[in-house]
Amino acid sequence: MTSWIKAKAHSELARIREAWEKQVYPYFRPFESGGLHTTINGKPIVNFSSNDYLGLTNHPKVKEAAKAAVDRYACGLSSSRVQATTVAHVELEERLAAFFRMPKALITTTGYQAMVGAIMALADAETTIILDQLSHACILDGSFLAAGVPKNGAEVRFFNHNSARSLERVLRTRERKNALVCFEGVYSLDGDQAAIKELLDVCKRHGACVILDDAHGTGTLGTHGRGILEEHGLEGSFPIEQLVIVSTFSKTFGGIGGIILGDEEVVDHIKHRARSFLFSATLPVPIVAAASTILDMLESEGPALVAELKEKAAYMRKSLLELGFDLGASNTHIMPIMCRDERKALFMHLALLENGVLMVPITYPGVKQGEERLRLNITRGHSHEDMNRALELLDLYGQAFFVQSGEPLDDTPSSSYIGP
Ligand SMILES: Cc1ncc(COP(=O)(O)O)c(C=O)c1O
Repeated sequence: MTSWIKAKAHSELARIREAWEKQVYPYFRPFESGGLHTTINGKPIVNFSSNDYLGLTNHPKVKEAAKAAVDRYACGLSSSRVQATTVAHVELEERLAAFFRMPKALITTTGYQAMVGAIMALADAETTIILDQLSHACILDGSFLAAGVPKNGAEVRFFNHNSARSLERVLRTRERKNALVCFEGVYSLDGDQAAIKELLDVCKRHGACVILDDAHGTGTLGTHGRGILEEHGLEGSFPIEQLVIVSTFSKTFGGIGGIILGDEEVVDHIKHRARSFLFSATLPVPIVAAASTILDMLESEGPALVAELKEKAAYMRKSLLELGFDLGASNTHIMPIMCRDERKALFMHLALLENGVLMVPITYPGVKQGEERLRLNITRGHSHEDMNRALELLDLYGQAFFVQSGEPLDDTPSSSYIGP
């Protein structure tokens, strides 16, 4: 007899099976070495879907620091931070607080856990959590967990993407006393920045607290890479007691790990209440050492590193627009190539990969139907040669699959290979 979990899996995998059978399944491709330049099945590949925004993950100093930490601390501490904190964790927390100009920092094992833990520690039955409609999964999951706490669940509401007016409407009509507004500095699928000033102004007027997820703004925005607040000259402009910033080591910092920044007591409270932090193992010290080495680089040469990323992103943006590509709402180094058709996105992905360029397709349900795209992130680690090769291939195959013109591929309706 087939179990219900087997039957469920079989039924829900139907679309994925179809993609496997047609050999167009694009995900989980195993890299044979790390970094922006890797190999897949022995073939050299330039990865344009990476979040290694400053291209520092493979820096020899970063790897040396991690290796030295393995010798001293091994790969793990076999316990949670409560009983497995090291001087390396504490020192990096102090340095992160100073770098981001925030009173206190806490390191968690992933950015996902940082966000889920922060929301769950702060929200309760007296709280309305108010989310941008395009929020990352970690914000949604943290909010829904907070809403589901027996007898102490928060209310969860949404505002229209990046709309301060919509946010204000929700703040005015919320049911609970305390408002916790969550939004991102840079949206990872569309590459657009938060309307940060307008959103913070509304929150200030309504006395709302804010959790800002700056995972994609850290190291990429602001002269020194401190993120969206630095980019817009807003550091220190919003009451510190009402602000928590969450970020990650999994992008600019080249590893894994979460960062929570805020008022001392607020961070201490999260440290003692965030279940995703308390009940999961410590971030391994080799990763702490790698992040700490990247922080050294940001401190000593941050402006030059960020400027190089911005110069490369500007070159790519100008070239893509000249070739007629639609970059959607992007105004950062994250520039989705809008295909607006699942098959176009898949065929483009396969044709590029065949020629040594990886751009992962994002299809429904990751994005709405009609908004299918290729993920294209420019990093400081891409050379002009890498970008020119990608542009040449994008133009060639973009024309072949009518991506720039927006014309349909043919008359047959687009079937969904990946989505449900
Ligand atoms: C906006 C955003 N927030 C949080 C995270 C989670 O970060 P981490 O990879 O450290 O779990 C990500 C990563 O995908 C992200 O894109």
